[in-house]
Amino acid sequence: MSLQTRLTELRDQGLKDIQSAENSEMINDIRVKLLGKKGSITEVLRGMRELDKEERPKVGALANKIRDELSNAIVTRQNEIEAEKIAKKLEKEKIDVTLPGVPVKEGQAHVLAQIIDEIEKLFLGLGFQIIEGPEVEEDHYNFEMLNLPPDHPARDMQDTFYITDKTLMRTQTSPVQARTLEKHDFSKGPLKMISPGKVYRRDTDDATHSHQFHQVEGLVVGENISMADLKGTLELVAKTIFGEDRDIRLRPSYFPFTEPSAEVDVSCFKCGGKGCQVCKQSGWIEVLGAGMVHPNVLQMAGVDPDVYGGFAFGLGPDRFAMLKYGVDDIREFYLNDLRFLNQFSQKG
Ligand code: PHE
Repeated sequence: MSLQTRLTELRDQGLKDIQSAENSEMINDIRVKLLGKKGSITEVLRGMRELDKEERPKVGALANKIRDELSNAIVTRQNEIEAEKIAKKLEKEKIDVTLPGVPVKEGQAHVLAQIIDEIEKLFLGLGFQIIEGPEVEEDHYNFEMLNLPPDHPARDMQDTFYITDKTLMRTQTSPVQARTLEKHDFSKGPLKMISPGKVYRRDTDDATHSHQFHQVEGLVVGENISMADLKGTLELVAKTIFGEDRDIRLRPSYFPFTEPSAEVDVSCFKCGGKGCQVCKQSGWIEVLGAGMVHPNVLQMAGVDPDVYGGFAFGLGPDRFAMLKYGVDDIREFYLNDLRFLNQFSQKG
C-alpha cells in the first residue's frame, strides 16, 4: 500500500473517530493515537525517509495537510464537547425565578411588649425620657428612699424576694424614681420620665398573680405641677390604650411615697360604664396607682420640696393587656404558647 493511500485511510478513519468521540478523554486518546510521538501519522512521516527524492515533497505536503486537517477536527470536536458539557450543566442548574418562594414565617412583638411600646410612644411624644433601672435592687432604693423605713407596715403589701439583707428583686419600678431624682439637674428644667420593666413579688402564682410581672413607672417633678396635670396625663394613657371614649376617676388611696395618693379607675371599655361582667357591674375598672410625690421622697433625693413638686404613677401592662383582650389568666403571658401569642397579631 502506498503511503498516500495509507495517509488517506488514516485521515478518513481519524475523522470518523473524532466525530463520534463523546468526551475529552476519548478525543485525547485519538490525538495521541494519530498525532502523538508514536502515533500513526507520525510513523508514516518517519517512513518517508525510504521514499524517492521526487516522491518525498508530495507525500510530505499531503501528510502535513492531513495532520492539520486532523488537528483542526480535534480542536473543533473538543470545543463542541466543552460547549455541550456547559449547556448540559446550565440546563440542570436552571432556576425558575417565576416559581413561588418558600414563605418566611414572620414573628411579632409579644403582646406585653406591644402594650409597653404603645405607652412608650405616647410618652416620648409628650417629651418624657425613658429610663431603666436594675431588677436586682437595693433595699435602700426599693423602700427607704420611697419613704418606707425598715419596719414600715406598708412593706407587707409587697412580699419581697430578698437576695441578702440589703439587696432584693425589686417589687416595683418606683425605685427608679429615687435613682433619677438624685441625679436630675433641675436648673436644666423639669424631670419627666417613664420607666418600664420587670418587677418581682413572692406571691403564690394564680390566675391574677405571677411572681414576675411588669410595671411602667411615671414621674414628673418641676415647679407648679398640680394634680390636674396628673389627671390629664392619665386620661391620655387610658384613651390611648382603651379607646377614645374612656373616662378616668381618682379614688383616695395610700402609698407611702405619694401624698395625696389615688387609685385610678377607667370607665369600662366593654359596657361603656353601664355595668357588666368585666367591670363587676360598677362601670369602672381599677387600672393603676398614682399620687403627688411625697415631700420626704424629694427631700431624701436632695430636691427642695418647697420649690419643686410633682406627680408619679405606676401602671401594670399585664393588667392592661388582660383587661383589653379579656385574658383571664396572667400566666398565659409567660407560657410561650404560640397558639395564645399569635392571637395578638399587629398585622390585624
Ligand atoms: N409602686 C406602686 C405599686 O407597685 C404603684 C405606684 C407608683 C403608686 C407610683 C403611686 C405612685 O403598687
